[in-house]
Amino acid sequence: MVATLSKNWEKYIAMKQWGGRFKEKSIEEVEKFTCSLEFDHRLYKYDIKGSIAHAEMLGRCGILKIEEAEKIIDSLKEIQREIEEKGIRIHHKYEDIHTYIENKLSKKIGELSGKLHTARSRNDQVALDVRLYLKDEIKEVAEKIKEVQKSIIKIAQENINIIMPGYTHMQQAEPVLFSHHIMAYFWMLQRDIKKLYFCLKNIDELPLGAAALAGTSFNINQEITSNLLDFTTIVPNSIDGVSNRDFIIDCLFIAALVMMHLSRFNEELIIWSTNEFNFIEIGDAFCTGSSIMPQKKNPDVCELIRGKCGRVYGNLISLLTTMKALPLSYNRDLQEDKEVLFNSIDILKNCLSVFSKMLLSIEINNIFIEKHLKNKYLCATEIANYLVKKGLTFRVAHEIVGKLILKSSSNNKSLDEITLDEFKEVCHLFEKDIYDLLDLKKVIDIKKSHGSTSREQVERQIKKAESIISN
Ligand code: ARG
Repeated sequence: MVATLSKNWEKYIAMKQWGGRFKEKSIEEVEKFTCSLEFDHRLYKYDIKGSIAHAEMLGRCGILKIEEAEKIIDSLKEIQREIEEKGIRIHHKYEDIHTYIENKLSKKIGELSGKLHTARSRNDQVALDVRLYLKDEIKEVAEKIKEVQKSIIKIAQENINIIMPGYTHMQQAEPVLFSHHIMAYFWMLQRDIKKLYFCLKNIDELPLGAAALAGTSFNINQEITSNLLDFTTIVPNSIDGVSNRDFIIDCLFIAALVMMHLSRFNEELIIWSTNEFNFIEIGDAFCTGSSIMPQKKNPDVCELIRGKCGRVYGNLISLLTTMKALPLSYNRDLQEDKEVLFNSIDILKNCLSVFSKMLLSIEINNIFIEKHLKNKYLCATEIANYLVKKGLTFRVAHEIVGKLILKSSSNNKSLDEITLDEFKEVCHLFEKDIYDLLDLKKVIDIKKSHGSTSREQVERQIKKAESIISN
């Protein structure tokens, strides 16, 4: 099995892994153009992890001698330690992180290093590296989302008594608990976490052994590699195994979705912090000032989160477009997957991290919120419901309450300033108890449906959210 070691092995192990059939060297510009080390160096940990598992499997299967496998593994661990201490010198003479590490290995153990690539190609290697990277990153992103969710729960619990106008079409609609509104974001993020775990399931297939595309004639044992690397299963088709990037697109999509959710939330915070609304005050530590207008306090963190959403959307479209009409199996186009992926994950993690902290800095100005509730028009729907409960159809009741609002606004009165006689002029079914429905707290607590704004329902959903978070 083990061939005689050539005396001139160094001649065969160059910076590249493929020089043999070439008469001419690449020009420097092409080397620079094709090099991915500048960004894929981030995969070094996963590349080494995958190589260690591969070497161990080759050893256990008798494709490498046990001592050879051990030597390769020890040296790979040493390379990892060195990288962690000294970093990676980015130079285009190394085509990518895989070449870089193999080159380091050859410096340590000479010709033996060339055996590591037995039954493997960079095509299945890179597919493996990205899967391993994402297995870690997805868990980290989910943890960061949880931190935001915890901040949301805290705000919801601490402000359970605050009533705010609920909006549709950005027009005041019905009164809701502030906690109810804020908890809506908890559930959006909870759906994102579910999707992340679904994505993790799709990632959980070992591509190693697909080799270049067709598989390998070596008698490898993928079960061993799969167990060593904690995969549940092996890709069912080697051609798909090296050309599939769907799991990356899934992640880019979920990143876009989370950013969309964050941007909606931040947009509301921006609006609420304006002088016009004045619902909230964002902590000074999360705002910046103006270089010209001394009075300004700008919600830059919110704005940047809202703004970065654009790049994350762009990254999704970018990879979808790269993949469009790409023939099977591996094509170098696929190298374009990494920069967009890293960029989206980085942006997402940074945004989540700063956002969970910023949320805790927010103060809610209840006095100002109450000012927006004064005219009691938010009770209109429940006033219509009152008439329905007295026998009118909803359509008729709606019409009558519309007239009531018109009457009060043209007389410049809030609804609680309308006398019972005036109410009766609009509809004889109004009785004294109509004034109960002008109490916003009552209008809130009258809600019965699941997930609604009554205090009981909101407390119930907060409890449910807490139990999800603590699991
Ligand atoms: N840097 C390459 C990538 O990211 C690694 C795989 C190269 N494979 C090849 N056959 N040239 O896709």
